[in-house]
Amino acid sequence: MDFDRALKIAPSILSSDFANFGKEIEAIEAQGCDWVHVDVMDGHFVPNLTFGPPLCAAIRKHIKTVMDVHLMISPVDAHIQAYADAGADVITAHIEAGPHSHRTMQAIRAEGCKAGIALNPATPAGSIEYLLDMVDLVCVMTVNPGFGGQKFIYSQVEKVHSLRAMIGDRPIHIEIDGGITPETAPLVAAAGADVLVAGSSVFKGGSVDNPAVYGNNIRAIRATEGV
Ligand code: DX5
Ligand code: ZN
Repeated sequence: MDFDRALKIAPSILSSDFANFGKEIEAIEAQGCDWVHVDVMDGHFVPNLTFGPPLCAAIRKHIKTVMDVHLMISPVDAHIQAYADAGADVITAHIEAGPHSHRTMQAIRAEGCKAGIALNPATPAGSIEYLLDMVDLVCVMTVNPGFGGQKFIYSQVEKVHSLRAMIGDRPIHIEIDGGITPETAPLVAAAGADVLVAGSSVFKGGSVDNPAVYGNNIRAIRATEGV
C-alpha cells in the first residue's frame, strides 16, 4: 500500500446485505470505492456484535482494493493475528480499548499490517501524541461506535484540524467514521481528512441488482473534493 493524501471513500459493509457480502463488495468496487471498511464489534466494547476472523477471510477473496478492518473490541491484542491472517491490510484498534495502545500498534505492524488508532468522540486529539511515530492511520469517530446510520457529531471537526496539525509531514492517514454524507464530507475533507468511511450513505437506495445507485452515492460524497 503506497501512501497518498488523495480522498478515499471506504464503504462500511455494516450497511450492506449480510446475505450477499461477496456480490455487495464486488458492486461497490466496480462502482468506484477505494477501500472496503469492515466493522468488527464484540458486544462488550460496543453494544453490538458483528464479524469474526473466518468471515473476514471469506470476504477477503472478493476484495481487490484495501481491506480496512476496524476493531471495536476489548481486549484486542489477542485477536490481532487472526485478523491479519484473515487478510486485513489495515487494522485499527481503539485507544479506549485498553491501557497498552503502544504495544497494540507494535503488534499490528509486526503482523505486516498498517496500524490504525481510533478515537471515540469524547477522547481528545492529544491522547495519541506519543503514538504518532507508531501509527499509519488515525480514525476519528464522528459517532459513538456501535451502529450505522447515526448522526454526525459536529464537534469532531475541530479535532480533525488539531490532528492534521499534529501529524505534520508524517505519512499518516486521517480517517473519519460515522455520519458521513455529501453534506458532512466537505467539512472533514477541508479539515484534513483523506479517508471517509460511509455506510448508510453509500448503500442507501441501491442493491446488487441496482448497483448504479452505489456509484451515484459514492460520487456524491467524493464531490466534496476541492470544495
Ligand atoms: C460505527 C461504525 C461505522 C459505521 C458507519 O460504529 O464504525 O463504520 O458503519 O456507518 P454510517 O456511515 O451509516 O454512519
Ligand atoms: Zn467503522
